[in-house]
Amino acid sequence: MTNSDSRLTKKDRPTPIDQEILIPDEEVLISVTDPKGIITEVNDVFCEVAGYSTEELVGASHNVIRHPDMPKVMFKIVWEHIKDRENVMALVKNLAKDGRYYWILTDFVTKVNASRQVVNYTAYRRPICKDVQNAIIPLYKALNAIEDVAGMETSEKFLNEYLENKGMTYDEMIEDIIVKHCKKAAVLGFGNNTEDDMKTMSPEKKQSLFNKLFGIK
Ligand SMILES: Cc1cc2nc3c(=O)[nH]c(=O)nc-3n(C[C@H](O)[C@H](O)[C@H](O)COP(=O)(O)O)c2cc1C
Repeated sequence: MTNSDSRLTKKDRPTPIDQEILIPDEEVLISVTDPKGIITEVNDVFCEVAGYSTEELVGASHNVIRHPDMPKVMFKIVWEHIKDRENVMALVKNLAKDGRYYWILTDFVTKVNASRQVVNYTAYRRPICKDVQNAIIPLYKALNAIEDVAGMETSEKFLNEYLENKGMTYDEMIEDIIVKHCKKAAVLGFGNNTEDDMKTMSPEKKQSLFNKLFGIK
């Protein structure tokens, strides 16, 4: 029997503590949702890191693991992409049940049926190194500060202007941060003059690079 009253909601979120959960490089934290964003499946490592059981997570929304340091506008961008059936990556700080945090690069993948209706969404989360975290934190801090005083419309405007000044789309910014700050990228011969490289690189080559960086099979 489903007891909707016992379902975890954002009211159940713990008070954050300033302690990081370090995730081994090879781990992938996976969850699947229905088209409304309700969790339908999770893998063991996601439960282990998040600190919740499968039973607690299935039926809940991911906002139970949303960290207050994550700007609202970042999830708006994610939802806009996936509702349009476009895959998207996001650098995410999540909140574990004990209040600790963990940083991951999340690949959001939309599965559609033959009539292009959304069947489900899957999130593949991989740990990111400190340099990648440090590259995004100042932007998230600025967006959060704006949201606190002026709301999400204003933070969205700020983000759009920020991207315009950089001459990049949101997707290009994320790729740029990863390739410039991920240690493995330098080993693969990336990291210098990356802006040009990423802009001119074919989608297939980009996919292959990210596969190499994050061990996607
Ligand atoms: C497949 C999928 C995975 C998601 N994973 C996360 C996640 O790891 N952390 C998170 O905070 N939000 C995640 N979200 C976004 C949440 O649905 C939600 O938009 C976000 O937590 C903000 O919630 P709020 O606006 O209710 O505060 C995910 C959404 C989908 C569809």
